[in-house]
Amino acid sequence: MSKSPNILLPALGVTGIVLGGAYGTMTRSYKADEADIARAQAQAAEARLVSQEEANTDLKSQIALVQDTAKAKIAELEARPATVSLTAPAPMHDGAMGLGREALVEEIAAWDVDVLPDGRGLPAGTGNAFDGEELFADKCAACHGDFAEGVDNWPVLAGGFDTLADEDPVKTVGSYWPHLSTVYDYVYRSMPFGEAGTLTPDETYAIVAYILYSNDLIDDEFELTHVNLGAFEMPNKNGFIIDDRPKAEYAAWSAEPCMSNCKDEVTVTMRSVFLVNTPEDGGSESVMNNATVEGLPSFTSAGASFIPEAEAKVEETVEVAAAAVEEPADEGAALIKAGEKVFKKCKACHAVGDGAKNKSGPQLNALLGRTMGSVDGFKYSNVFKAAYDEGRIWDEASLTEFLAKPKSYMKGTKMSFSGLKKEGDQVAIIAYLNSFLGD
Ligand code: HEC
Ligand code: HEC
Repeated sequence: MSKSPNILLPALGVTGIVLGGAYGTMTRSYKADEADIARAQAQAAEARLVSQEEANTDLKSQIALVQDTAKAKIAELEARPATVSLTAPAPMHDGAMGLGREALVEEIAAWDVDVLPDGRGLPAGTGNAFDGEELFADKCAACHGDFAEGVDNWPVLAGGFDTLADEDPVKTVGSYWPHLSTVYDYVYRSMPFGEAGTLTPDETYAIVAYILYSNDLIDDEFELTHVNLGAFEMPNKNGFIIDDRPKAEYAAWSAEPCMSNCKDEVTVTMRSVFLVNTPEDGGSESVMNNATVEGLPSFTSAGASFIPEAEAKVEETVEVAAAAVEEPADEGAALIKAGEKVFKKCKACHAVGDGAKNKSGPQLNALLGRTMGSVDGFKYSNVFKAAYDEGRIWDEASLTEFLAKPKSYMKGTKMSFSGLKKEGDQVAIIAYLNSFLGD
């Protein structure tokens, strides 16, 4: 309450002015001395003037201050060497940013709670398993069991020795943890689960001692303290190794890679589509169906250059030259010759000629006039089996249509070939195939 007059004063001032106004109105209406009013008004005006003047002086001194600061700044800037870089970091006072303050010892202590393996960081305290048993039963056993053996799926804290090399090792504080400091730190900071931070140092020492006792590592009179905890040796303290692979192994793995002339020649001989059994209907839209072994890139180590075009050119030139040498006798022979070239697209899957065997596609001897799907020992797709049952025969028309678009002429065929796009090719290949009557 003692503060309220101070708080109220400004408010009262305002009220006073308002009341003053009301008082003036009242006196006038009661025909009071008009001179009084004039005097009051003059006084008020004077008061306003004074406060205005005060405000002005205030403002003036503020302006003066800003001007002085600006002048000082300008002087400072002018005093700087002309070579000052505009992109250089701003100079710092005493090398610091002038932000914040040194952390207090207490503040650092509040954050610095971790305990190191040698015991540094342990709060002073002591406890034994005898006292720890009761605390453990009270605060931990509901989850970890009376003997730290674990309830249901809660972690087991004791036992499991000699299981670490098993397929299903039991990793407990006793069998696995290399440092006792971790047990103290972990329990002190995070247990009991859901009530972390409620244990005192002495309680924690006692509980840690009880966990050791449950692991048969101490007897119940052993007094665990901040002095001896760091020296306590856990059974698995040597079970962890320092990862020295960067030193021990990386060198062995990182031989200089071969970057040039590593292999005399690399050639691609087949597409995987020919090797794997493409499902009957699967992937009929696949671009792989357009694949042929023709035109595949090949590499030579001479500069490891990519030269399919060059190779194709050479091949073409050789063929043209060969054709020029042995001019075919007649048009029919020329067509067969052209068909032979087209047949390269089929060769990966089909054989034709004397003793031709089935490959991934049936042999194509004596094709014209042959019943569809009729080659012995070849496993046709259902659509071909059906064609066979209907007794359909290969003639020029059906063959032309089939070879143009195998998948649409024979829906469900397992022939993974997109078709011959050029009409001339179909005529040529039929002429070529027709030249093999076979046996
Ligand atoms: C409500 C159940 C519950 C209680 C009570 C509880 N814990 Fe835990 N304890 C857990 C769970 C859950 C974990 C596993 C936590 C994790 O993996 O993040 C755990 C993990 C541990 C571990 C590490 C086990 C390991 O091998 O990783 C220790 C040690 C431990 N508790 C000790 C204690 C001690 C000591 C108490 C009593 C002061 C206690 N716990 C009370 C549930 C509990
Ligand atoms: C990727 C392999 C592959 C390629 C390339 C291929 N075929 Fe086939 N061909 C097959 C398979 C597999 C069949 C059996 C189809 C079925 O059962 O559905 C077949 C069936 C045929 C048949 C039907 C034979 C019969 O006994 O009824 C003819 C004709 C044929 N192919 C011609 C060709 C020609 C000509 C080419 C080249 C222009 C060619 N194929 C390219 C795999 C191929």
